[in-house]
Amino acid sequence: MKEKRAQFSSRFAVIATTVGSAVGLGNIWAFPYKCGVNGGAAFLLIYIACVLLIGIPVICAEFSIGRGTHKNVRGALRQLHSSRFVHSFSFIGLLASILILSFYSVVAGWTLEYLIEAISGQMTATPAADFSNHFSGFASSPYKSVAWTLIFLLCNYFIMRRGVKRGIERMSNILMPILFVILIIFCVHSFFLPEVGRGLKFLFHPDFSKITPSVVLGAMGQAFFSLSLGLSCLLIYASYFSDKENLIGSASLIAVLDTVVAVLAGVIIFPAVFSYGANVAEGPKLVYEVFPAIFASMSMGWLWAVLFFLLLFFAAITSTISMSEITIAFMTEEWGLSRKRASQVNTLVAMALGSLCALSFGVLRDFTIFGMTIFDLFEYISSNILLPLGGIVFALLAGWVIDRRFIRDQLTNFGSVNRRLYPVISFLMRFVAPVAILLIFLYGLKLLHF
Ligand code: TRP
Repeated sequence: MKEKRAQFSSRFAVIATTVGSAVGLGNIWAFPYKCGVNGGAAFLLIYIACVLLIGIPVICAEFSIGRGTHKNVRGALRQLHSSRFVHSFSFIGLLASILILSFYSVVAGWTLEYLIEAISGQMTATPAADFSNHFSGFASSPYKSVAWTLIFLLCNYFIMRRGVKRGIERMSNILMPILFVILIIFCVHSFFLPEVGRGLKFLFHPDFSKITPSVVLGAMGQAFFSLSLGLSCLLIYASYFSDKENLIGSASLIAVLDTVVAVLAGVIIFPAVFSYGANVAEGPKLVYEVFPAIFASMSMGWLWAVLFFLLLFFAAITSTISMSEITIAFMTEEWGLSRKRASQVNTLVAMALGSLCALSFGVLRDFTIFGMTIFDLFEYISSNILLPLGGIVFALLAGWVIDRRFIRDQLTNFGSVNRRLYPVISFLMRFVAPVAILLIFLYGLKLLHF
């Protein structure tokens, strides 16, 4: 007999797990560094516009397809449409989720190294000026970085194997709220740093001359990445929602909470960057250099450091389990593999690719494709190309291809909620999001000039 499909047990769990997927290294590691590289407030502004005009409608598209069918992405598309061409779009999500899992695990592995250094007291003993060298030394050492990547993927594997309710739900319910509180405490601390004014100005006072095609594409890619959008990750989670869930309400709440966490991370980082004389445009290393300097200046710094890296690790793992769920739900439901076997396949592939990403900070540093290291290439292809592409596909599917009544019934719970909001979301989903994604895409790849 077929096992009954899992379902999240409460509304709180629905929000905590989807926010758990959305909030992760994307908010705390990627957002500040990309904002720094791309000129600060102008990037934030475009980012927020993308979340509102593209992000929320595309979340609604994924949610309605997932919750309406209660299936994995391929099963869902098969139920809703007969064309094989439409079914084949599920592969964008599968490919991108494996690429993301691979490079994401490298950065998540760094949190473990830093956690150990924080526990041993070594972190707070390092002088602030040395954090940059310290990081480079660690990241380029051939074994350490690979070892932590593999250890992280093993942790991910053990949680994945336990399944939706016991594994995913329980962790998110407890850890997400704690992370939020901790970030607020760090924010308050940042307000007392000497260069708080300069930091906040960088984040909130836009300099429009900084807007270039790559800034706009980067902001959209980051919005997709941070909202876990475009890969059918939210589609899968929505397939575990109950039929009472208010989809537009949850989509908006998730978008707001995710953006708040990214902005909080900015408010923590930028005053510190200027106060400790770090370089805002440092790139992927930024957060790993600046946070240790913050802890070194706090009383009981080592304790805060332990707490922070522990929570960052959990935020990362609640995100990686959501990416893994895409391929695992696919393999169990489409190929009939057991959950354990599917988790093993997923983990082994990610281990192989993840090791290559880890090495691209060390021995493979000079191995570049299109001028990017393997790590950068994986990140670029997935955030800036595959996720927006997946976003267009979902917006078009929900807006134009799938039966209109099906989507409307999902978004309004058969006419009982959101009757006023539905036309707005529908308009954004059918017209604004696909056109905006396409234009930004062409503009960002410099195929279109304004
Ligand atoms: N949103 C997560 C973060 O910000 C990363 C993530 C989880 C993700 N699941 C995803 C990104 C699916 C793209 C697609 O860290």
